[in-house]
Amino acid sequence: MRIVVLASGRGSNLEALIDAQREARLPITLVGVFSDKADARALDIARADGIAAVHVDPRAFGSRREFDEALFAAIAAAKPDLVVLAGFMRILDPAAFKPWLGRIINIHPSLLPKYPGLHTHRRALEAGDRLHGASVHFVTAELDGGPVLGQVRIEIRPDDTPQSLAERLLPQEHRLLVACVALLAGNRLRWAANGVHLDGAPLDRPLQLDEDGELVVDAR
Ligand code: GAR
Repeated sequence: MRIVVLASGRGSNLEALIDAQREARLPITLVGVFSDKADARALDIARADGIAAVHVDPRAFGSRREFDEALFAAIAAAKPDLVVLAGFMRILDPAAFKPWLGRIINIHPSLLPKYPGLHTHRRALEAGDRLHGASVHFVTAELDGGPVLGQVRIEIRPDDTPQSLAERLLPQEHRLLVACVALLAGNRLRWAANGVHLDGAPLDRPLQLDEDGELVVDAR
């Protein structure tokens, strides 16, 4: 499976995909990393690994729509099977990614549908939640609102801060993203009109990552 990653910053989720691919845990080829930030560490990671690294500068375009069209034209030229948003911090114009529906996913640091948007760790703490986590979902016109493929949960501790929660969640995000991409690359998960299908059957709730890094149907 040919994969393009979009990232605005640190790129640790990109690194997790590269590591899994290198260790033969993931049958993918990374065919491009695109960023809206020239200094994104994700671009350095890609370059160091010999992956095409492309900065598309929003300031070079008159409107958000023109930027998005140029970005997706460049993505299309890389001929990916799947586009992965991994810490891409811009809102995309749904018209620009319409041809990619079902082939574009995002990782988000909350148990969606809780806390779409920003400051998810702080919001989970302020709400007094006992569980937090991350979700991988298909991207749709609704911000962080597309069908969720998989989630990982962590417990919130009484002394957690937004930072401690983010730090504890991040390695779990990496495992979740790798596991979701593995199922997609194996053609086991796909987007259908009525939601997400696993092995041809509709899922009525997101898969949950277990301790072994496997995505399983949640019995609860
Ligand atoms: C990750 O925590 C990801 O879930 C989050 O940004 C971080 C990127 O880290 N994404 C969002 O908040 C998207 N709304 P990374 O650059 O190290 O992969």
